[in-house]
Amino acid sequence: MQSGRAAANDIMIVYRSEYAGDDGSFQSDLAAITREAIEHNSAQDITGVLLHHNHVFVQVLEGSTDGLELLMNKLRKDRRHRNIEVLLDGRIRVRAFSDWSMRAFDLNDESSLSLPILQQLTDTFRRSFSTAESTLMQFHQVMLGAIARKNRTPPPTGV
Ligand SMILES: Cc1cc2nc3c(=O)[nH]c(=O)nc-3n(C[C@H](O)[C@H](O)[C@H](O)COP(=O)(O)O)c2cc1C
Repeated sequence: MQSGRAAANDIMIVYRSEYAGDDGSFQSDLAAITREAIEHNSAQDITGVLLHHNHVFVQVLEGSTDGLELLMNKLRKDRRHRNIEVLLDGRIRVRAFSDWSMRAFDLNDESSLSLPILQQLTDTFRRSFSTAESTLMQFHQVMLGAIARKNRTPPPTGV
């Protein structure tokens, strides 16, 4: 993951929402959402990440003001999630996720998270989000916990 310079009118929006479907549909809904996001975002020069933990989403979106306004209108109508709460909305000088038209991370499944990616995500959170907003801080804590567990070397066996 590399960060890249942002265009003059680029903004970042971060929101949290709750999955509105059944437990059994989550994985297939998430796969469809990610597919739609990658297709649409690459055409619109939108980049970002979609984190989820216990059926709560936090999505970071980077793009032009117009592009993100259109996307937020679609997201507000999407019945696969509810209770959208915008946590951050502001201009950026640098894109944190310029290589990813959208990438989903399951913070419940540590085996799907590589250590370098976790560390880059947590660095980006630290750099971009200085506010002590509670949802962001909870996600940050989950990521820090996963890093701590991954750094711990397993106990020796057969001793
Ligand atoms: C949590 C969540 C995140 C989403 N993220 C994106 C996204 O980054 N980009 C996108 O185009 N659609 C995203 N979608 C899907 C949109 O709401 C919408 O269904 C999709 O863009 C297709 O819209 P259209 O049929 O009007 O083109 C997301 C949906 C959910 C529930």
